[in-house]
Formats: sequence, structure tokens, C-alpha cells
Amino acid sequence: MPTEPTTQADLVHLTAGGVSLVLDCSEDRLPAVLHWGAALGPLDVAALRALAEGDVALVMPNEVDAPVRLAVLPEPHRGWSGRPGLSGHRDGRDWSPAFRVTALDVTGAGSDQGGTVVAEGIDETAGLAVRVTVELLPSGLVRARAAVTNRAPGAYTVDDLTIAFPVPERARELLDFAGRWGKERTPQRRELVVGTHARDNRKGRTGTDAATVLTAGEPGFGFARGEVWGVHTAWSGDHRHHAERLSTGSQVIGGGELLLPGEVRLAEDATYEGPWVYFAYGDGLDDQARRFHRWLRSRPQHPRTPRPTTINVWEAVYFDHDLARLIDLAERAARIGVERYVLDDGWFRHRRDDHAGLGDWYVDEDVWPDGLGPIVDRVRALGMQFGLWFEPEMVNEDSGLARAHPEWIMQADGRLPVRSRDQQVLDLAIPEAFDHVAERMTAIIGEYGVDSVKWDHNRDLVEAGHPGGGAAVHEQTLATYRLMALLKERFPALEIESCSSGGGRVDLGVIEHTDRVWVSDDIDPLERQQMHRWTQQLLPPELLGAHIASGTNHTTGRNHDLAFRAGTALVGHLGIEWDLVQASPQQEQDLTAWTALYKELRSVLHGGDLVRMDEVDDTRLVSGTVSPDRQRAVFFVASVGRSEVSHTGRVRFRDLDPDTRYRVDPIVIGEVHGLRGPAWWSGDRVFSGRVLGTVGVQPPDMPAECVVPFRLTAI
Ligand code: GLA
Repeated sequence: MPTEPTTQADLVHLTAGGVSLVLDCSEDRLPAVLHWGAALGPLDVAALRALAEGDVALVMPNEVDAPVRLAVLPEPHRGWSGRPGLSGHRDGRDWSPAFRVTALDVTGAGSDQGGTVVAEGIDETAGLAVRVTVELLPSGLVRARAAVTNRAPGAYTVDDLTIAFPVPERARELLDFAGRWGKERTPQRRELVVGTHARDNRKGRTGTDAATVLTAGEPGFGFARGEVWGVHTAWSGDHRHHAERLSTGSQVIGGGELLLPGEVRLAEDATYEGPWVYFAYGDGLDDQARRFHRWLRSRPQHPRTPRPTTINVWEAVYFDHDLARLIDLAERAARIGVERYVLDDGWFRHRRDDHAGLGDWYVDEDVWPDGLGPIVDRVRALGMQFGLWFEPEMVNEDSGLARAHPEWIMQADGRLPVRSRDQQVLDLAIPEAFDHVAERMTAIIGEYGVDSVKWDHNRDLVEAGHPGGGAAVHEQTLATYRLMALLKERFPALEIESCSSGGGRVDLGVIEHTDRVWVSDDIDPLERQQMHRWTQQLLPPELLGAHIASGTNHTTGRNHDLAFRAGTALVGHLGIEWDLVQASPQQEQDLTAWTALYKELRSVLHGGDLVRMDEVDDTRLVSGTVSPDRQRAVFFVASVGRSEVSHTGRVRFRDLDPDTRYRVDPIVIGEVHGLRGPAWWSGDRVFSGRVLGTVGVQPPDMPAECVVPFRLTAI
């Protein structure tokens, strides 16, 4: 229901998707959040005033003599003693700006589709101008960003520009993510105590250890219980997330870009704009995740075509590029029903292993004497799309490019940074370097009509400076976005996968330009069960590259049957990354069935509402997706260990339509050793949504590492 138009211009109530955002923009001050959370229903002017008055705290002994007002760009001059919004100076001066808002533009107040507040302010004394934008998106997600402009002579150094939103005092538990190569987005929890929980990231990329979404919530919050307030910084370079609790009891969560020393120095009239910082409220983590998913799905660039089953040849052949073998792989893949073939690392000059060749984006004449034409033509003749691997920002010292242009390699103080995977980083802020890479990629993509690029970035940035100049991560990040945008402009149908040592570049900045992420180099289904579960806190499953690997996993050495590997990958953008020569005829037949199943279910899997059940037994994971009309659903019951009890209890499927009756079909493809179905599997298997959500059904007896998908169809 639309809210009553707010005539009180300085109190703004925006509402959308079950969320209300009330901003106080009174008395020429920067916007401050009065309420961000559950929808408040229509509020007239008197109600808004009352809300604002109810928010005025008492002044306590030994505090500043007026209630501390917390703007979304927190201001020390108002007595805020936590992390400031803007930190910077002009040769040691103008370091504590006091902005006076000179223009306020509000759109959307009174609708139920959200809206935008743009406040422009100035501090004449400090010679600074600021613009703060706060937007409530239709899904109920909020995002905000700030820009600062130097309006006076003399360079102004911006050290930090952080957006922060208050969270209620009852949000005392934090959840964010840790991780490393092959183990991305591992959840970690702690109490929010007085002090700062700061996740500073100086990896020069989003990072395999990125916080991803930092959430504060009511203690014990889960997927469907407890209110949660989360923050995500949409930026693929150095960045921050933080949660802070002051001795006053005030609590905020915030984020922004992390700027290296002297990285942003504004000449007169120059502007620095920070990235979007997203704020996601939820009644439980599923509600929060759905707000991200709905927003992402509503964007014009969101991939709308069915996500093609993919084969990526990396774990099948690594650097052993042999045409006959690669064609054989393509033929086997096509027989199984694969729709996209991705040629990974190893196709370009001097790239016989990972020590050399990065930067030489010419097809290797020794390995591919006739160019890529023969493989591309065969792939297309088999009815598949063709994808190709690049690592555009990187260069090996042992490469033609590094020898020709050593001055394009990032470094600090005249010394090359320590190598990582034997590689260095190209400074894409150098126009000639940027143009060179853009020209090479354009030539290859154009020549072969490449449908998708796997865009890799396989190292953390260390001492990432402009040769002979200052820190360069900020400009590098913008240059990467520019390069992606340029290629998409030149090739409008081109898709890009964001890969970075696996899942090291997963954020909403890069998602503006890309169509899926590679979740992790670790394709072990036991690990992927967790990573898929938690990467979906930010991204919907259609953006998650999920592959079926070989039986013995190349990262962990664990062995798993095909049903666990395929059933785990089914949830995302499905692919195969396995030398199919090793697959038995029975496995090939089962893979064909899994591929067909994926094609049947992908419209539900990739368009529905995420459900993850709060289980008490951590050896069991239950998750699913329910179509928006509640007519179809797919749930996965996974066993990821051995419980201390023999019966782990009934499995419930939440968020179905309570009054609809569903047929529940377990899907078992091939031989799953040790799987036994309960009695109801051989009945008519029809239950109401209410029964499934509140009582549930007995789970099968499953081996320790196993997943069973269930197809739910309304009857
Ligand atoms: C990274 C990627 C892998 C693969 C290799 C190629 O590790 O994450 O998937 O593309 O690079 O070198």
C-alpha cells in the first residue's frame, strides 16, 4: 500500500519490498537514518514527527551537550566519536568538515516502490562539497554512496569515505565470511561488543577472504528467524566492511573503499566518488538474501537466457592443449547435452605452464598451428557456444609483453613486487597498456565470435603502484570495469565469468559487468555444499558457476559418486569439469540424465525464492527454491557427515503455499550406494504446503556424503 505523500520535506519515508527507510534531512543537515527495517505502513506528517521525536536520546553525563546525530556520512563535528564518514586533509587542514546541505532532491516518497534522496552540501571553510545519495530499491534493498569535491586551491587528500547506517541495540550478533583459496565464503560469527569489527581488505581484488556481507542481527538469528541488518561494499578493489559499537550503545555497520596512502588527491574541482554500499535488512537471512536476488534479477543486464550447461576443460586437460583430445572432449560433451564449451588457460603464446606467457594474447602457433578455428568450428558444429579464458590484468615476467613493456608492470619505488603464481600485474591505468589489452581481446573475441570470456585474476595485488608513481589499486579497479564495459559494448551478446583464483572476485561491483562468478576452484561437492549455500547470501544461484568434477577431487583428494557431485552442482549454473574419457558408459548415461534434469528444472532453480532450513543437526543441510507463484519448487536434502543419532528427524520444506497440495518426487539418478527411501516414497507422495512446512516428512537413510533433490509440483 502506498504511503501518504510526505509533505514534511525534511522527514522522508521511503518504502518498498517490506522495508521502510525513514531519513531525517532537517535543518540543512546530511541525511540521517531514523528507521531502516521492517515496513512501518502509512505514516502521515504527525506520525513521522512523533517518530523523530521519539528518537531523541537524553544527554548523559560527560557526553557532548546535544544528542549525537549520526548522518549516513558520520560527522565528528556533531560529537560522533566512531569511524568518521570523511577522513582527509589539505596539508593537515580542513580535516573536520561540517557540511551544510544546499540542495535536497527526493523522489519516490509516497510510492511503494522505494525512492531516492540526494543531498548536496558544502563546507565553505574547508573548501569541500559533498553529495550523498541514498536509494531504496524496489526489492527493499538500500544502497548509498557519497562523492566529495575539492572546491578550493591546493590538493585535498581523501583518506577514507565510509557510509554507515545505524542498527538497533538488539542486533548484538555478527555474521560475515572468512575464506582462502579453495574455501571461499566460510561463515564466522561473533558477538558485537564495544569496539570495531573491521574487515579491511588490501588484496587489490575482492579477495577469497572477503567479508562479502557483514550482518548484525538479533542473537541466534538464522535463515528464517531473527531480524538482520547487513552491509556489502560493491567494489572489486581494496575495501572495508565494519561493525562498530560505541560506549554510548550506538551501533553502526558500514563500508567503503579502502584507499591506500595518497591514492586519492583531489585537485581543485576534482571529485572522488565512493562505490555503492548496499544495506540489506531481513527477517532472517533468507529474506535478506532474497532482497539481493530480486534486485539483481530486476536489472536490465541480468542474464535472462537459460543458463547453458557448460563444459570447462581445465581439470580435464590443464595445459595439455591437444586438438584431437579437445575435440573428443567436445564430442562427448555434446552427446551429454552440454551447450557451452570453455577453453581454459593454455591457448596463447608461450603458455606451456603457469610460469610464462601471461600478457601474450595471441594464439600459440606451435600448439595451435591453424589457430583456434578447428576447435571453434567443431564446437559450433556440435551446437555449442564457445568460451575462452583470459587473465587481462596479468603478465608473466617471462612473456613477450613484459619484455617489450617493463614500464607497464605495477610496482612501488622502482622494485617489482613479490611474485604470486609467478605473475605480476599490468597497470591498466596506463592508456597504452589498457588499449593494448583491449585491442588483443577484441581481436580474438571478434575473430572467433567468442560467446563467453572466463575473466581470471589469479593473484592478490602487492605494492600495486603506478611505475614511478603512487598507489594504483583504485584506478586499476576502475580500469578493469572500463575494460569489461568496453568489450560488452563491442560485443553486446558476450558473457563474462568473474573468476579470481576461483571465487576471489565476487561482489556487486563486478556483477554490474559480468554474468556469473566462479565460486571456487574447489569443486569437491562436500565443500561446495557450504559454498553454494553461503555465496547465495549475496548472489542468486544462476550466477554461480557450479561444475561436476571428476570422482577423485583434484583439490581435496576426496572421492564422491556422481550423484553427490551432480546433485550439488545442479543448484547453480551447471557445468562439467572432468576428463570425460574417464567416465564409464553408465556415468555418461547418468550425466546425460543430470543435464536433462537441469534443463527441465533451471527455470525454477534460477528464478525462485531461496529457502535454507534452520537445521539443528549440522550433518544435514536442507535448501531449495520456490517459484514465485508457489506452483513449483526444488528442494535438496544433503547429508554432509554422520550424526550421533540414527534418525535426524523429519525434513521440512518452508515457504510453500500452505493450502496447495504438492506432489513430492525424490530424484535419484544412477546407483547411489547406501541410499534407502522411507515408506512415503512408494505412496502417492502428496502433501499440503502447510504439512510440509510445519510437520515435514521422514528423510531417506543416506550415506555420509550425499544429496537428494526433490521436485515439488502443485496438483
Ligand atoms: C585459476 C582459475 C582456474 C583456472 C586456472 C587456469 O586458478 O580459478 O579455474 O582457470 O586459473 O590457470
